[in-house]
Amino acid sequence: MKNLDVFLIFLAIRIASVFLVQTYFVPDEYWQSLEVAHNLVYKYGYLTWEWSKGIRSYIPPLIIAFLYKILNLVGLDTAEVLIFSPRILQAVISSFSDLHFYKWSGTKKWAVFCLATSWFWFYTASRTLINTLECSLTTIALSLFPWPGKNIEDNSKFIWVAAFLFVIRPTCAIVWIPLCICHLLINKEDSFSVIIQRYVPIGLSVLCVSITIDSLAYGRFLITPYEFLKFNLFQDIGAFYGVQPWHWYLSTGFPAILGIQFLPFFMACLVVLKNRSNHPNELVILGTMVFTLAVYSVLPHKEFRFILPLLPLVFYVSSRFLSSWSRKASTAGVWVVAAVIFFGNAMPAWYLGMVHQRGTLDVMKPLREIAQKDPNNTHFLFLMPCHSTPLYSHLHVNVTTRFLTCLPNFNNVEGYIDEADHFYFSPIKWLRQYYPPNGVLPSHIIIFDNLEPFVKDILTRYKLLHQFFHTDVPLSSRIGKNVLVFEKVL
Ligand SMILES: *[C@@H]1O[C@H](CO)[C@@H](O)[C@H](O)[C@H]1NC(C)=O
Repeated sequence: MKNLDVFLIFLAIRIASVFLVQTYFVPDEYWQSLEVAHNLVYKYGYLTWEWSKGIRSYIPPLIIAFLYKILNLVGLDTAEVLIFSPRILQAVISSFSDLHFYKWSGTKKWAVFCLATSWFWFYTASRTLINTLECSLTTIALSLFPWPGKNIEDNSKFIWVAAFLFVIRPTCAIVWIPLCICHLLINKEDSFSVIIQRYVPIGLSVLCVSITIDSLAYGRFLITPYEFLKFNLFQDIGAFYGVQPWHWYLSTGFPAILGIQFLPFFMACLVVLKNRSNHPNELVILGTMVFTLAVYSVLPHKEFRFILPLLPLVFYVSSRFLSSWSRKASTAGVWVVAAVIFFGNAMPAWYLGMVHQRGTLDVMKPLREIAQKDPNNTHFLFLMPCHSTPLYSHLHVNVTTRFLTCLPNFNNVEGYIDEADHFYFSPIKWLRQYYPPNGVLPSHIIIFDNLEPFVKDILTRYKLLHQFFHTDVPLSSRIGKNVLVFEKVL
């Protein structure tokens, strides 16, 4: 297939996903990117503690802010455009990385098929998550890596991309440490001179530029990768957001993000391990994956999206296996396998992309209309787990909002619980404290339906305005099947 055709196929799929994937995944998609960009351009937007402590690089939100600014200058910055345009931008970046994957894995049709049908990549490739950008850049760096037998002479390009990745997402080091060691071992030049002549100058240049940008954006001297490591490793803030057993990636995370494609990958691993001498690159890739999963398994806080950058590695191994298998297989066999992979991915892509957890996004449209109509008298109170919905990036009106926060225990206070815990422990007490009956009440209250019986007191002064389906399977006791919007009755 021609490169342009492959690019256009991927572009069509990724752009389609911008409109087909209509569900809420994780808070960071909005709160660590769009909200920050909105704050940069429009001077309102909620900055979470990550931004006051300076543990994130401003470079990714600056890219979105640049887009917002252009839209603002040409007068196209309606809320809908601000919501969709960053996703379209990420979709284009993801399509480029998909094309790089195609070239890297040997321009095989199965490479296109595996990547195009992957439910998890379909679900995430057009989201404004740092992990999505990380996965695209990882794929591009992998395609520039001087793999044995690939005749890639220039071996510094990938170092530039990996260095950039490190400054925006320090945890990418977990994937790149084994790959860089491998690079030093397979290199014809002396390792020491490669480090001195390439790694150090490239790393330092990228670091200097990023420190300059971040220090300007934060208004103080700051090395964000260092702050990130300080909070996540030394202070173990990550554990505040949940602790999973050590085997979670092996038993849940990794099989789930692969879905049905776990089977060809597993078979490919067997073939690679049996004929080790024929698959030097695959062995390096499997080693990298084992190392990455091992390190992530040791870290207490685990999430699906953290291992997203392993997908290109998985599909490199399994697509090459499938294409050598299909050369010997019957046509009918190939079609059956392709159909099983396609439908096995279509199910989770449809359910998780269109059904599961859509209410907290759907609710933003009526809230925006309320805010636009009467901004001065609008006050939204979100009685939900922190960051359950997007905020100003989707409202695009500077109205008063209040939501339950979930700040980690920065000062190691004994028996610390966050605001959301306080609220759920006793909703009535919390409401009496912040919204006494004779004080000013919010104009609208947004809750999950299962909270309704616990806040009946305050709701006697409200009427139900909207109800949105959220999910059939709430993932925690604080999440309900529907999202409700109540309006104060005057
Ligand atoms: C947004 O609203 C808040 C609270 O009313 C106000 O303090 C702030 O100056 C406003 N920001 C902008 C950019 O209008």
